[in-house]
Amino acid sequence: MLFAKLVDIYQQAGFAIRSSISPFMLKTISNVSSEDGTFTYIVKDGANYGAHGGGISMSEVYLIDSLAAAFKPANVFGIGCSFGWSSVALAVANPAAKVVAIDIAEGTSAPGLGLTNQIAARHGLNLKGLIGRSPEDVPAIVERELGGRIDLVFIDADHTDTAQYADFRAVAPYCHPGTVYLFHDVYICQTTASFKRIAAEMVTHDGVVLTRTASGIGALIPKSATAELRGAIAAFADPFCVVPL
Ligand SMILES: C[S@@+](CC[C@H](N)C(=O)[O-])C[C@H]1O[C@@H](n2cnc3c(N)ncnc32)[C@H](O)[C@@H]1O
Repeated sequence: MLFAKLVDIYQQAGFAIRSSISPFMLKTISNVSSEDGTFTYIVKDGANYGAHGGGISMSEVYLIDSLAAAFKPANVFGIGCSFGWSSVALAVANPAAKVVAIDIAEGTSAPGLGLTNQIAARHGLNLKGLIGRSPEDVPAIVERELGGRIDLVFIDADHTDTAQYADFRAVAPYCHPGTVYLFHDVYICQTTASFKRIAAEMVTHDGVVLTRTASGIGALIPKSATAELRGAIAAFADPFCVVPL
C-alpha cells in the first residue's frame, strides 16, 4: 500500500502525482525534455514542482516497501531530498525509524524541503528534511541528528562518479556491517564505475545493480543479511539483465 499512501499524502498537500508513465504515453502529456515519465513528479496548477529533481519510480517505492517488511532500521539517512518523495516513503514504510534527509536546497529543492517537513508534521512522521551539502555537512548532521549511526542509507544527489563516491565516503564511517546502502540512478546515470569501486571496497557487503528498478539502483547487501532481507533486495535484480561488477 506504500505507493497509494504516498499518492494520498501528496494529494492532501495539494499536489497531483505524475509517476511511472510509459515513455510512449508521456509524449502525449508533456514536452518537457528533462522529464522521464518513469520517475515521479508533483504537479500543482499545471506546474511541475520538482522538474529538476524527479522522485523515485513506483518500482523503487515497491523496493522500499519490500525492504521494510524484512529489515527494521532505527536510523535512516538520505542524501538528496528534493520534494521529499523518497524520504516520505522511507518514513511511512519504517514508522519506528528516525529518517533524516539532506539537500542543498537550490532551485526546486528549496521549497521541497519545506514541503517535506510540512508533510512530516501533518502525518506525524519521524522525518526531517534539512539543508546540507554532501560530503562536507554529512558528519555534523549525522552525529547531531542520528547519534552517529546509520542503518539504511539512500543516496540520490549529484549523479557523477566523483560525487557518488564522495557521498559514500561521507556516510561510510557512520555505517556498520549490517547497514543497507542504496544508490539511486547507478545504471541510468552510468555511475557504474564508482559503484564498482565502492562494491569492491565493501568486503562486508555484496554489491548488485537492481535492474528491475527504473533507475538501476546500486545496492550493497550486508553479507550478514537474513535470507528474507537478501531476497527482498535481490528480487529486484533481473537474472536476464545483469550489470557485471
Ligand atoms: C533526484 S533529486 C532527489 C530525489 C529524491 N531522492 C526523491 O526520490 O524524492 C536530487 C537532489 O539532490 C540534491 N543534491 C545535489 N547535490 C547535492 C549534494 N552535494 N548534497 C545534498 N544534496 C544534493 C539536489 O538539490 C536534488 O534536489
